[in-house]
This record gives sequence, C-alpha cells and structure tokens, in this order.
Amino acid sequence: MTPMLRTVADTAPVAPVADAAPVQIQVRGVEKTFAIGAQKIVALQNIDLDIRKGEFVCLLGPSGCGKSTLLNAVAGFQPPTKGTVTVDGRIITEPGPDRGMVFQEYALFPWMTVAQNVAFGLEIKGMSKAEIAEKVEWLLQKLHLQDFRNRFPKDLSGGMRQRVAIARVLALDSPILLMDEPFGALDALTRRTLQDELLRIWEEVGKTILFVTHSIEESIYLADRIIVMTYRPGTIKRDVVVDMPRPRDGSAPEFNRLKRELSQMVMEEQQRFSQDEIRSVTAD
Ligand SMILES: Nc1ncnc2c1ncn2[C@@H]1O[C@H](COP(=O)(O)OP(=O)(O)OP(=O)(O)O)[C@@H](O)[C@H]1O
Ligand SMILES: [Mg+2]
Repeated sequence: MTPMLRTVADTAPVAPVADAAPVQIQVRGVEKTFAIGAQKIVALQNIDLDIRKGEFVCLLGPSGCGKSTLLNAVAGFQPPTKGTVTVDGRIITEPGPDRGMVFQEYALFPWMTVAQNVAFGLEIKGMSKAEIAEKVEWLLQKLHLQDFRNRFPKDLSGGMRQRVAIARVLALDSPILLMDEPFGALDALTRRTLQDELLRIWEEVGKTILFVTHSIEESIYLADRIIVMTYRPGTIKRDVVVDMPRPRDGSAPEFNRLKRELSQMVMEEQQRFSQDEIRSVTAD
C-alpha cells in the first residue's frame, strides 16, 4: 500500500466511490465573525471546500477552531458573514430536509418512547401509519434498538440514546448527514461499536457525511478525507485523503504514520489555543 497522507491539492483523486461522484456541498470564500461586545471573533476565514456525493469527510481540530461553526453554516443554522455554501447547486440560507443533523447531546423528546422518537419526523412528513410502522421497524432493526422500542430516553444508556438520535435522522432520508461530535460523550467501546454501525449504514445507504471530531483516531477510522482546521481564525490547514481499506486497523503501520502526522498538525493548533486561553486569563 502506498503512503496515504496526501493533500487533495497535490494528488490525483484516489478515493474509490466518491471521486466519480459530483460535488454535492460547495463552500466558497466562507468567513464567519462573531461580535462579543467590542471584540470581533473571526471564527472562520477563507474556507473553500468541495464535498462529493457519498463522501465521508471529517472536520478535525482543537476546541475553538470553528468546526461547529462550519457545520452550522452547512446546516443553515448560522449563515456565513461572507461567502456561500451551496448544496446541489442551491445556496443555503436555512435548514432543510436535505440535511439531517446529529448533535453530541442526544436531542430526543423525553416524553416519547424510542419508537415514537424515530417515527416523529415521518408523521410530520405525512406518511401513512403503515409506511411509518414499516420504516420504524427497519430502522430499529438496523440500529439494534428493537428490544428497546417502548423505553423512554431516560431509561437508556448514552450509546442507546445516540443510536435513537441517528435512527431518527436516518428516518428522514436526508441525503446529507451532518454530525457534530456525535460520539464524543461515549465510552471507548460504545464509541467503536457506533462508529462501525455508522460505517455500515453509510456504505449501505450511500449518504454524504460531514462529521466533526477532535479525535484523530476517530477521523482516521472513519473518513475518506480529513479536513484539518487551524485555530482562530479557522481556516483549512490540510485536506488529507485517507485511502486505507475499511475496516481500518488502528495498529497498522500506515494508520500510525498518519496518526503521527495529524497529531503534529493538530498539536500546533492546540498550542495556539492554549496560548490564547492563558492570554485571556492574564488579561482579566
Ligand atoms: N454564537 C457565538 N457567539 C460568539 N462567539 C462564538 C459563537 N459561536 C462560536 N463562537 C466562537 O467561534 C470560535 C469557533 O467556535 P466553534 O464552536 O465553531 O469551535 P469548535 O471547533 O466547534 O470547538 P469545540 O471543539 O470546542 O466544539 C470560538 O472561538 C467560539 O468561542
Ligand atoms: Mg464544536
């Protein structure tokens, strides 16, 4: 196997599925500034990014580098200050059914059972009861939730709750899944199980996934491409293609080589974040 650390800019396309596919998400010249009193925070600057249909792309970087801000711009929750995000050629100004979002904190309705949570979006869509029942059943099976269908979120583990959140977003059949550190709060084993389930579902249903993480290992395990971001202003530091076959072995030499290179890149940004924190404390 050839070394797999390459930037999109200096190599020919290599990712098997996605390279043949058209660009689905296009980010052009995106800047996002926030004003806190008199202070202006440039959260994102000069972001240009193309994501192809069916690609699994991770946004990687330390806290405060703008990962969620970029994801929210694609979701349409927070439009950019400058530049554009287009999805399938349409400029994004608000959330839409073509983009499903999964958050770190499991956004479930506590008064609904697992099955009701999964069915919720389908009822709004106006599907018939029989169609809803069939779809919910399929999703409960897919995410190994069938024995928990009548439980309420408070009676589930974190991993189970996140499974329900994923099932609920999958129910809507959005071609794009936006995931903001969805497994960040889970223990290592549950996290790995859910990563494997997500990959299985992604391969089966062919979604485009934009996945935020600050875990280097998670990004290598999952992604076709890893976008490494700089700490404030958030820019794209490197766009790395990962062409190792799946399932990926965390102990393989090429996995570790990539991990070392990414660690170096992320560490540089982490240090800038830490210095910034020290500066803000000493300024108080
Ligand atoms: N609504 C807001 N108002 C003011 N500043 C904001 C707002 N949202 C984000 N920021 C600032 O923009 C920068 C980027 O924030 P963002 O939440 O996108 O980072 P992140 O990479 O997702 O970090 P984390 O890993 O901690 O979730 C940070 O400095 C943050 O303080
Ligand atoms: Mg974030």
